Amino acid sequence: MRSDNQFLENGDALPRILFAASEIQPLIKTGGLADVAGSLPIALHQLGVDVRLILPAYPAVIEKLVPLQALASLRIPGWGGQVRILQGSFKEDLPIYLVDIPGLFDRAGNPYVNAQGKDWKDNADRFAAFARVIVAIALKQTSIDWRPDLVHCNDWQTGLVPALLSQHSNRPASVFTIHNLSYQGVYNHDTFRRLRLPPEFWSHHGLEFYENFSFIKGGLAFADRITTVSPTYSREILTPEFGYGLEGLLNHRRPHLRGILNGIDDQFWNPASDPYLEANYSAADLAAKATNKQALQQTLGLTQDRDAMLLGHIGRTVPQKGCDLILDVLPRLIEKGDMQLALLGSGDPQLENALQEVAARHPQRIAVHIGYDEELAHRIEAGADAFLMPSRYEPCGLNQMYSLRYGTPPIVHRTGGLADTVTDASAENVMAETANGFVFEQPTADAMWEAIEHAHAIFRRPPVWWEKLARAGMGEDFSWQNSARAYLELYQQAIDEPLGNPLAKN
Ligand code: ADP
Ligand code: GLC
Repeated sequence: MRSDNQFLENGDALPRILFAASEIQPLIKTGGLADVAGSLPIALHQLGVDVRLILPAYPAVIEKLVPLQALASLRIPGWGGQVRILQGSFKEDLPIYLVDIPGLFDRAGNPYVNAQGKDWKDNADRFAAFARVIVAIALKQTSIDWRPDLVHCNDWQTGLVPALLSQHSNRPASVFTIHNLSYQGVYNHDTFRRLRLPPEFWSHHGLEFYENFSFIKGGLAFADRITTVSPTYSREILTPEFGYGLEGLLNHRRPHLRGILNGIDDQFWNPASDPYLEANYSAADLAAKATNKQALQQTLGLTQDRDAMLLGHIGRTVPQKGCDLILDVLPRLIEKGDMQLALLGSGDPQLENALQEVAARHPQRIAVHIGYDEELAHRIEAGADAFLMPSRYEPCGLNQMYSLRYGTPPIVHRTGGLADTVTDASAENVMAETANGFVFEQPTADAMWEAIEHAHAIFRRPPVWWEKLARAGMGEDFSWQNSARAYLELYQQAIDEPLGNPLAKN
């Protein structure tokens, strides 16, 4: 196997990549997938790769990308109408293809759910059509005069792509990245039939999953290589606890499975230049961090207390993120007397209500902001003293990396990408600047509370302790460069040693 450095130094032609995702920051975002899809292609481009993006033409995206050029129109199996491919320009002039199917993607709001938070009823049709168009471009079956060497697919919405590609002998290679294995795109057999998928896919070696039809299995069974977004998560998903019934298949695919830690967009998330902050700061000069804390307390109506230990949390309020554990420790946090919490999130309405009720009773100490607010997210990262992230599982997690970069030590459960990025503080390693946060072993309120108490004790030591912890995190490199090189190496392996058709041997 050659290393990516040799690969680059030899001046070999770099592979052409079609990067497919159902959300891309800053065009449309519901979670970390969009952050990755908005920055990994740029890092690849900076390595010299010809990378192009493809995304459904949601109205919000069209609005942000006009003027657009109509490039091609085609028909696809399973959808009666005409499909158009529009081209726009993404960051650094990267071409972005938008799949324009008015009956499927021309609706306002969230890409996956309606205004009531329920999945769009035709999600299977929507993302099957998206996959068909990706495959048509990948096989150069449209009038677009460009053919990728590899298609990089992300999460279940693009899962059918590697499966459909496998039917063609002269196909580009495929990589499938699992950002979250618990979202699988599972539908019934009737849906499978309606989508006119090849009947031979109906096999447990193919798309069948306990008598249902699974989109994600298209990626897991058929892609030439599979990645997850952190090394620890790539091992966790091999177990029944984290594998959701797919651990058998994943163990079978183990030789082709790799964990590559996400990077972050270190321009957008940079405390030295972040336009959302009250005051910019850096590791060399942390003084202005206090100004951000004061501004955050003021904005959220918390007591203006510079000595209080202010904890932050940002995320989807769903069981994955362990928000219920935060709810459980609120009485202890209030009793402690010198702590505050700033929480930003949205998700499960019951949990949202429960958190808001406590905040309403203790407005000087607990601030809960329900909704999605990019600016407030940046201001919490900068203004909080420590960042809480008690996720039950976390394929990678971006907020702990943002908080490390903002000098706001994270308090995390040892799982997935949290385990790979946070080193627990002890008396020795804080002074040596090799610890950057706090890690607890079990996703329980008690274990988290113990870690909070530990953090609180270090916070109450002379300021040099906390500053060392903060500086250790700020000094780390979470840029995309290393990860982009790892992907490039993997792309080349996928191209050089493709997977045989998994259905062929049956
Ligand atoms: P996940 O993708 O599982 O939701 P990540 O940590 O990978 O988790 O990424 C979440 C991303 O979404 C981060 O960029 C985070 O800042 C952002 N985010 C989540 N909830 C909110 C919110 N309520 N307001 C603003 N940004 C949010
Ligand atoms: C998923 C995961 C999260 C990860 C993100 C980007 O949404 O839940 O842990 O950071 O994808 O890869």
